[in-house]
Amino acid sequence: MLENRRILLIVSGGIAAVKAPDLIRRLRERGAHVRCILTKGGAHFVTPLTLAALSGDKCYQELFDLKDEAEMGHIRLSREADIILVAPATADIMAKMVTGQADDLATTALLATDKPVMIAPSMNVMMWTHPATQSNLQILKDRAVKVVGPSAGDLACGEVGNGRMAEVSEIIAALTRFFQKSDGQGPLTGLRALVTSGPTHEPIDPVRYIANRSSGKQGHAVAAALAELGAQVTLVAGPTAEPDPDGVKVTHVETAKQMMKACTEALPAEIVVCAAAVADWSPQNADQKIKKGADKTPELKFAENPDILATLAQAGPTRPKLVIGFAAETENLIEAAKTKRAKKNVDWILANDVSPGSGTFGGDSNTVHLVTAEGVESWPTLRKRAVAERLAERIATFVERNL
Ligand code: CTP
Repeated sequence: MLENRRILLIVSGGIAAVKAPDLIRRLRERGAHVRCILTKGGAHFVTPLTLAALSGDKCYQELFDLKDEAEMGHIRLSREADIILVAPATADIMAKMVTGQADDLATTALLATDKPVMIAPSMNVMMWTHPATQSNLQILKDRAVKVVGPSAGDLACGEVGNGRMAEVSEIIAALTRFFQKSDGQGPLTGLRALVTSGPTHEPIDPVRYIANRSSGKQGHAVAAALAELGAQVTLVAGPTAEPDPDGVKVTHVETAKQMMKACTEALPAEIVVCAAAVADWSPQNADQKIKKGADKTPELKFAENPDILATLAQAGPTRPKLVIGFAAETENLIEAAKTKRAKKNVDWILANDVSPGSGTFGGDSNTVHLVTAEGVESWPTLRKRAVAERLAERIATFVERNL
């Protein structure tokens, strides 16, 4: 994916600049052409000679130092790249990108470019979490700047927290994803995914039904995120107000039994994500509308619905390689999720609290805990779209390692 891609690497002034040589080496191993701009700050951590030697090109530093016609100014530098990668990206360079300052070669190239830009932020945890940086980050994201990292861990300043530059391998993976996507491909290209979403409606009679508060937002977002990464996605959706996601085949159903049937018909698939809030029981429904009567209050009799997730996760030669479910709980969240994972033979469970105060059902955010065979990973409260993207990324990593 990186073969013959032209990457303009801007190395700004953070301690993570020491990772630039390794980054350049690994990019070139993959056939990429790397050209470097080193800021004044960056030059405190890594020498231009190192970057020039490893990239096999001049390391550009000064805005006004064209020695001859053959040398390149900031405009050409920024245009003759397929992507500009700022790694590390300091709080300072992010702020300058936001305000459009152009007081050195790096910031001028960033302002002059018509090419995509990716940043790998690196800074002290307080600088990272400062509202100024966070609001700059949001502005850059809104301008379609791609962001890789940072991650949490020990920082060079001695503090611990978020702010470590993404690992070189993560930056390479992000670049690979970027180019895959621009080629209309993704890490999940060639794989089939089945996603369930929304509530089910279980009829009582021709005009009445039993439902639940699921909005379908999370399941639909998962289907969209998997499609974004190139998977061929079938979404089996209960009744929701959510629009059909782009690039996804959608089968609309009402009842749990219909959902079960549609899922079985959608197989085979390598990946299954069951996000639907399937009714556990359906009432024995009447063919005709149940009428009021002085002496008869209707009594509902229930029969258990098929468990779609457990059915799809059953061991066997056609079992999808990765089966993921949600656990909607109002108490003992993690323990109940672990039990559900084992009981239903599921690979991963996303446990979420659906107590009335949590705002999960119907809301736009979700706080989930990813329960796998390796353990429990608690994610911060995220928009449902972000939860879906994070899950899709995790699935892509699983696919890279296992499929
Ligand atoms: N699920 C399913 N079919 C069902 C019931 C649940 O596919 N008939 C799936 C859901 O999509 C979810 C997972 O199973 O991924 C767990 O659903 P949840 O409602 O949390 O649990 P239940 O299995 O219904 O158990 P309980 O209601 O007792 O907690």
